Amino acid sequence: MLIKKFRRSAGIAIAASALLASSAYAMDPQLAQAVAHGKQMYFHDTFGGNGRVCNTCHVGGGREPGRLPDGTRIPSLANAAAIFPRISRRDGHLITLPDQVAHCIGGALRGNPPEYGSDQLNALVAYVTSLAQGKPIDMGGKPR
Ligand code: HEC
Repeated sequence: MLIKKFRRSAGIAIAASALLASSAYAMDPQLAQAVAHGKQMYFHDTFGGNGRVCNTCHVGGGREPGRLPDGTRIPSLANAAAIFPRISRRDGHLITLPDQVAHCIGGALRGNPPEYGSDQLNALVAYVTSLAQGKPIDMGGKPR
């Protein structure tokens, strides 16, 4: 009886910690699907550009910092969704996460960014946002 009770509470604890460890978006199948679609593009889509994909530079699925061949540090995207929007260092404009993603597609990939509001751009943003799941909002913060 005691063992049974223990097993049950241990089972509940394991289930609860699995729930906490898994992200909230995983509970909504449609949202999880958008994140999966974005992840697929992140690793494979060149957007008709120079052959690069997001993971060429933002390695490890965006979880690790990378470097350009000339040594320029490339931020990880681990907290990108928590620090946007921000003021662009380049031109002083306010930029949002979708702006930055479209900017990398047009610039770094030399590709054709999907339209704002399109399923593709939204899914990529959903994937990048999923990397920051659980991180506190830190507008103006530094990339990790
Ligand atoms: C050729 C390398 C390269 C590729 C490929 C690339 N990026 Fe970037 N990305 C950068 C560099 C360099 C920066 C930082 C400078 C800047 O703000 O433009 C950056 C910044 C970012 C940021 C802001 C990170 C932060 O926390 O400030 C996001 C988000 C981002 N990229 C998303 C993407 C996505 C999504 C893709 C694929 C569609 C992609 N990037 C492809 C080089 C790249």
